[in-house]
Amino acid sequence: MISKKMLDAINEQINLELNSAYIYYGMVAYFEAEDYSGMAHWLNIQAKEELEHAQRLFDFVNEVGEKVTLGALDKPSVDYKDPLDVFKAGLEHEKFITASIQKLYELAKSEKQYAAEEMLRWFINEQVEEENNFSHIVTLLERAAGKSGSLMMIDGKLGQREE
Ligand SMILES: [Fe+2]
Ligand SMILES: [Fe+2]
Repeated sequence: MISKKMLDAINEQINLELNSAYIYYGMVAYFEAEDYSGMAHWLNIQAKEELEHAQRLFDFVNEVGEKVTLGALDKPSVDYKDPLDVFKAGLEHEKFITASIQKLYELAKSEKQYAAEEMLRWFINEQVEEENNFSHIVTLLERAAGKSGSLMMIDGKLGQREE
């Protein structure tokens, strides 16, 4: 059993996770066009992770015997200033998602939705990692300060991300 309020909020989060994937695919498009294949690879894996996040919530809704509802996706940007601009935007987006997950978690607690609360705990931990990943890359890019040699090294490193 799950409350209507909780169900609506989880369905909204499914949309946010799918939107996250879409935003990151927009970033992949930018990096592919700019020939940063390592950064494109990193964000491609990131986009797939977001699809998995959506899938987790999707499965939960089905497991509690409810029906998933899907909304429209927002048109993502494929235009950025430079790599730092991209990863800063990614970090800001992850912070926004963290806030959304925390609101969901608070709702689960206040509505005594224990199964949802348990399921959401995974997302609370995941968001710590997500923000940390982006913020680490922002730091590397800031240190590189646009120098092409350093950028190529970072690109090579990000190209090694495993699924
Ligand atoms: Fe996510
Ligand atoms: Fe994420």
